[in-house]
Amino acid sequence: MAYRPRFSFTVFVCMFTKCAPGLISGQMRYSIPEEMEQGAFVGNIAEDLGLNVWQLSARKLRLKSDNGGRYLKVNLENGILSLRERIDRERICGPDDKCTISFETILENPSAVHRGKIEIFDVNDNAPTFPHSSIVLQISEASAPGVRFRLESAEDADIGINTVAAYTISSSAFFSLKTHNTDDGFIIAELLLEKSLDREIQSSFQLLFTATDGGTTQRSGTTQILITVLDFNDNQPLFDRDIYRGSVSENSTKGTSVMKVKANDMDEGQNAKITYLFSDLAMRKARNLFRLDPDTGEIRIEGPLDFEQANGYALDVKAVDHGSPAMTGHSKVLIKVIDVNDNTPEVEVTSASNQIPENAPPGTFVTLISVMDRDSGENGQVRCQIPNNIPFKLESATDHYTLITSEMFDREVISVYNIHISAWDEGSPSLSANITIEIIISDVNDNTPRFAESSYNIYVMENNAPGASIFTVTATDPDLEQNSYVSYAFLENQVKNLPVSTYLTINSMNGTIYALRSFDYENLKNFQIHVQARDAGVPPLSSSAMVNVIVLDQNDNAPVIISPSEQGGSETEEFAPRSAGQGYLVAKIMATDADSGQNARLFYQMVKSTDPTLFNVGQNSGEIRTARNILQSDTTTQTLVILVKDNGQPSLSSAVTMNIRVLENSTEAMSESSALVKDPRFFTDPNVYLIVSFSCTSAVFLLIIVLLIGIKCKQDRSIIQGYNSPRYCYNRGDALGTFNGRTVMEETLRYPGTSRVARVPESHQYSVCLSPESAKSDFLFLKPCGAPLSQAQ
Ligand SMILES: *[C@@H]1O[C@H](CO)[C@@H](O)[C@H](O)[C@H]1NC(C)=O
Ligand SMILES: *[C@@H]1O[C@H](CO)[C@@H](O)[C@H](O)[C@H]1NC(C)=O
Ligand SMILES: *[C@@H]1O[C@H](CO)[C@@H](O)[C@H](O)[C@H]1NC(C)=O
Repeated sequence: MAYRPRFSFTVFVCMFTKCAPGLISGQMRYSIPEEMEQGAFVGNIAEDLGLNVWQLSARKLRLKSDNGGRYLKVNLENGILSLRERIDRERICGPDDKCTISFETILENPSAVHRGKIEIFDVNDNAPTFPHSSIVLQISEASAPGVRFRLESAEDADIGINTVAAYTISSSAFFSLKTHNTDDGFIIAELLLEKSLDREIQSSFQLLFTATDGGTTQRSGTTQILITVLDFNDNQPLFDRDIYRGSVSENSTKGTSVMKVKANDMDEGQNAKITYLFSDLAMRKARNLFRLDPDTGEIRIEGPLDFEQANGYALDVKAVDHGSPAMTGHSKVLIKVIDVNDNTPEVEVTSASNQIPENAPPGTFVTLISVMDRDSGENGQVRCQIPNNIPFKLESATDHYTLITSEMFDREVISVYNIHISAWDEGSPSLSANITIEIIISDVNDNTPRFAESSYNIYVMENNAPGASIFTVTATDPDLEQNSYVSYAFLENQVKNLPVSTYLTINSMNGTIYALRSFDYENLKNFQIHVQARDAGVPPLSSSAMVNVIVLDQNDNAPVIISPSEQGGSETEEFAPRSAGQGYLVAKIMATDADSGQNARLFYQMVKSTDPTLFNVGQNSGEIRTARNILQSDTTTQTLVILVKDNGQPSLSSAVTMNIRVLENSTEAMSESSALVKDPRFFTDPNVYLIVSFSCTSAVFLLIIVLLIGIKCKQDRSIIQGYNSPRYCYNRGDALGTFNGRTVMEETLRYPGTSRVARVPESHQYSVCLSPESAKSDFLFLKPCGAPLSQAQ
């Protein structure tokens, strides 16, 4: 900038002029701005001192300067004072307001010293500068609006108006600049927080801070204000979902990851560091079952899950940051437990008793079967089954099954059923359970005791010892216990007008029959009794069997000789004509034996004779015949001893002694021997035959009447004791044609040892029933014998 010193110069000239009278000790004054070019004009010394130019050299003008010698020079040819080099006022004077350079001019011939001063005034040659290129500020986001932050001042080497005059900052919504001047002229700049900061929105600011001076040509300096917003824990952790939903199957093992929760905190550093926790609101139980990783937020299974206990859990979780004070965020976790078919069906049998009577009709309730499965859905649907080859079936109701019978039972065939009940659920894979229940079929007295045979024949040798056991009947009852306890008894009956109990007794416990008396075959050949077997059931069942007691003959009777009869012990006498030839029947010995069979089979034997050659006896016939012709030489009286022997073991015998007289005249003998038979009084009159035949007819008729009366008076035996009306059975095919059944029996049983006992088949039996009405009408009804004897009850 070219400074025009003219104005000052003029002023100084004026001053000089006024002060000229005091010039010797006067001062020259100049004023120049700093930063003038080298050689720049300062003043004309010659002129100001009032000297001619030539005097300058002549008087050896010298310039002497304390502080400005190096800046000034004087041209002796024209007396002009100029700058030797540029002057920086700030270098010479610093911040001083007044800045002058003093000098002296020394003249000789005559010597004179003049003092001069050059005032250097300020030029705005310096811009304001800041001590640092940036100002760093840290402001907490929590700072309230209105807070001020003192800013570093800028410096300007210039003085006066050329020094720092104003500060500005770049515009910002959050900050403004406040300045005020101090008493000593400084400007203090403060940064004012206009509104709240949010680090989470803007964490730093950069402002340009400018200082300007007041020079005409304004100069400025800038610096950066770097503001860092410091975090304040003003944000709570936020979960990324309000509710987390997850599911896990109930058989998952410990450590299985269920889900992960995540929270974010907009703060930073520790304020954003999050720890996950179950909230205290979460159920304690659930907190033991799950574990929440505090750092990662992962939820894992910790304890065993059971759908049947809880099918889901709600857990409150929280996220806590590490700020101070800490902030907390909340969320909810819903974990659904998925059912797995892990429970086997449970089968429970509820019944009062496992017994069922064998006569229970089909459909009888047996037991209640309740099935249960703690799983849900299909896993909990249970079906039940029993084998189909047993007489039971299952009926299903809404929540249970009923076991009922489907057929009749027979305990005597199957007494216990073990029923396997299988239950399985419909899960996949399905689980099953089996139970076996034992059903005991209890006995009902449905079986009558049965004798091994419907009739027994007991053979008892006559002359038996009274009290000895003669037979044992046995009846069996397939029922159980008391229904099967059989006792034996005789049905009341009469044998030969005496109760059967006088003949026999029976051990009621084991059916052993004892004879109470000694039997005599010749008196009683057989009799029938009915033995009853009765069980102890309620009501009792019984059956009876017929027992034929057959007395066996013993050879206890010796043959009895009937003819010829020994009258008065004297020997009998027979006659034979001498003229009789060989084979002439002299006599016939008739003998009987009360025994029967072989015991009654008689043999005749001649044991002694006068002449053994003359007579012989038919071994079987007992006929005594001549063995040869009777000779004249034979004696007239022959004595024979005939032995009649039965065939018993040992055999018994009787003997007869017989005298045979040989008659010379045969007619004499004949008339004598047949005198009795051929009595003419009986056989000569033909009318006798008429009378006899009439009498016989009447006798037969009478006999029938007597028989019928006898029946009516129950003189004859009754077959079964307990029958109200007597019955008599006879064999329809019986050749004898008699009504007396007993006779039939006796006839058929005559030779028990040799012939089979003929039992009268029941189907061929008819009874002749004589009811009171029929007695009146004398009418006979033929009808079949009713119930079989064994079924009597
Ligand atoms: C859970 O049960 C399912 C179905 O029964 C089966 O497939 C799976 O293997 C089981 N998982 C475990 C861990 O036992
Ligand atoms: C039950 O019985 C059925 C058929 O007999 C069989 O398949 C099943 O394995 C059994 N279940 C159990 C648990 O024994
Ligand atoms: C029947 O019981 C009686 C008396 O206890 C006994 O003497 C007899 O031998 C038994 N009979 C049988 C066949 O056991």
